[in-house]
Amino acid sequence: MTEMQEYFEPRFVEQLFDKMSSSYARMNYITSFGFSERWRRKCIKELKMEEGKVIADLMAGMGECWKFILKNSDKTSKLIGLDFSTEMIERAKKNKEKFKGYTIEILQENIFNNSIENESVDYVVSGFGLKTFNDHQLEKLAEEIERILKPSGRFSLVDVSIPKIKILKCFYIFYLKNIIPLIGKIFLENPEVYQMLGVYTQEFKNSRHVEKIFRKKNFYVDYIEYFYGCASGIKGHKIR
Ligand SMILES: C[S@@+](CC[C@H](N)C(=O)[O-])C[C@H]1O[C@@H](n2cnc3c(N)ncnc32)[C@H](O)[C@@H]1O
Repeated sequence: MTEMQEYFEPRFVEQLFDKMSSSYARMNYITSFGFSERWRRKCIKELKMEEGKVIADLMAGMGECWKFILKNSDKTSKLIGLDFSTEMIERAKKNKEKFKGYTIEILQENIFNNSIENESVDYVVSGFGLKTFNDHQLEKLAEEIERILKPSGRFSLVDVSIPKIKILKCFYIFYLKNIIPLIGKIFLENPEVYQMLGVYTQEFKNSRHVEKIFRKKNFYVDYIEYFYGCASGIKGHKIR
């Protein structure tokens, strides 16, 4: 197995996020210059959500997307947050307490072996949950989203990307490779885990391959770029 193949192993990814959990929120904000919040908000807005629906937040982490999801829905809606990292899930449970009166079901499960019922979900969202998957896993992710979405159900997914504009790209790669691990070294116990974010992002590049994979399934798909390609994603709906 190559090093990169090993990095896509679910056990490796799970342990990585377990280690990252205590600093993830802060680091995610710093490393995206505060843009991560804006990208989550925009990604969720793309769903054009209606009230009284079922929403699945996949690779939910500690529920970083929830405030934006719940702002766009109401108390008759149901939110399912799914993640496999024990540490992220523990924090998601604490986060849930902030949203009294809302129905939030937390599932500690692997997306590739999950208990969400067929055609039970109106909207699927995922913030920054794509880059740790290889193409084969992205195919399986597309199949799972197709399985759980109701006919005409909508999805919107976003992740960080390498921008195309040369000067921005050089700066971004330098930042990923040097500055983020340095920030990690100064502020955190496990700086090496943040090096991995750069490794995944460089391998991921952008969401064009995700778009291609989803287009092969029963979906209508649009590609979206956020801030000159520093993040990218897809949105769309299940055709039948
Ligand atoms: C970068 S975090 C994103 C967290 C959150 N959605 C956000 O907006 O910041 C990626 C999350 O995906 C989870 N994850 C990765 N692979 C997964 C899988 N196969 N099944 C379930 N969760 C997974 C990790 O545990 C981690 O919490």
